[in-house]
Amino acid sequence: MSETTQPPIGSYEAGPGEVQRVLLLYSGGLDTSVMLKWIQDHYGAEVVALTLNLGQPGEDYDVVRGKALDLGALACEIVDAREEFAREYVLPAIKANALYGGGYPLFTALGRPLIAKIAVEKAREHGCDAVAHGCTGKGNDQVRLDSTVLALAPEMKIVAPVRNWQMGREEEIAYAREHGIPVKGGTEAPPYSIDDNIWGRSSEGGPIEDLAAPPRDDVFELVADPREAPDEPQDLVIGFERGCPVSLDGERLGLVELIDRTAAIASRHGVGTVDHIEDRIVGLKVRDLYEVPAAEVLLSAHADLEKLVGTIHQNRFKRSLDEQWAFLVYAGLWYEPLRENLDAYMDSVNEQVTGEITVRLFKGRAQVVARSSPNALYDEALAGFGESGGLFSQQSSPGFIELWTLQSRMAYGIRNRGKEGS
Ligand code: ARG
Repeated sequence: MSETTQPPIGSYEAGPGEVQRVLLLYSGGLDTSVMLKWIQDHYGAEVVALTLNLGQPGEDYDVVRGKALDLGALACEIVDAREEFAREYVLPAIKANALYGGGYPLFTALGRPLIAKIAVEKAREHGCDAVAHGCTGKGNDQVRLDSTVLALAPEMKIVAPVRNWQMGREEEIAYAREHGIPVKGGTEAPPYSIDDNIWGRSSEGGPIEDLAAPPRDDVFELVADPREAPDEPQDLVIGFERGCPVSLDGERLGLVELIDRTAAIASRHGVGTVDHIEDRIVGLKVRDLYEVPAAEVLLSAHADLEKLVGTIHQNRFKRSLDEQWAFLVYAGLWYEPLRENLDAYMDSVNEQVTGEITVRLFKGRAQVVARSSPNALYDEALAGFGESGGLFSQQSSPGFIELWTLQSRMAYGIRNRGKEGS
């Protein structure tokens, strides 16, 4: 099997010879390293590499840069985008209690529009006429990157070699060996596709695709096995101001630091693994194994506090908007105006989301055990059994019940008119 390309189908895809200089989103891994060389060879184009730091652990960016330059990149930019990622992407997700499919906190989906936005900026800075990335044609990430690049820079072409070069992993390794590209771990590396940032880590593919088998021990790298977690629970107090987590156990922290520390503490207690069957927007159903220690703790704390300060009507309504928000982001539509409309609503609700939530971490479990808020719609004086006082009058209840249930009772009578026993 040779590394051939097929003719472009999308109007924004560039074929060989159609672009002069390409901005490649470069991770330093096998796919994008092969790509760095392959684009020069097959497209006759120059390559500028761009690597983003979104807080993925264990990266040595000097090594990544060195590798890119060795492989012929004109330049390799490393951009630390952690702050922007936390403030502009993760925080809105917290305010929207964002979980796709009930379990995926969207860390990858949130990262892609930022990665693509910076790619466009850097492409323009370096006079590139195309952006290249290493997404396959089977995933959601290609949708998220392409849609953002096209929204922000309609003139930009996109090169996505994995979608059409028709090399499998074996062929890629052979190509790498042939072109002097170092292959880390070789064929022995764990057979998973990994993506990670400060908000989570995903593993897909290989043995994970066997739905009948539980996750192997080599999958989870951040979160401890609950069986090895401490035998004593730990209570973590998270302070929120207008929806934003601002402190841990009373210590004020910037958002990146707060997320990192929460992740470390929760991981130690075995909190934050998710085994998720997911409906991709490209039609496939896949299984993802996630490690989302910070998201699990901070999202449950936020949702709990929001419920405490919101009215019954706000709380019921917001759930459906939260779900809509998560779907748009999952589906690669960060620039869809509805997302901004929804954000305005999220911000408005979150004006009241100030207070402290205590989460108890113990052997894989994170449970809210205490709450306080100056905005709580809760009055201890009114909560006791058999007591009236302040704004609440128990004597009013029968009148309320009579009117509240009026239509339902009438309708019941009409439906059962003439039936036996009525
Ligand atoms: N299933 C998740 C999503 O669609 C995670 C994707 C991870 N990406 C990757 N290239 N491994 O957002």
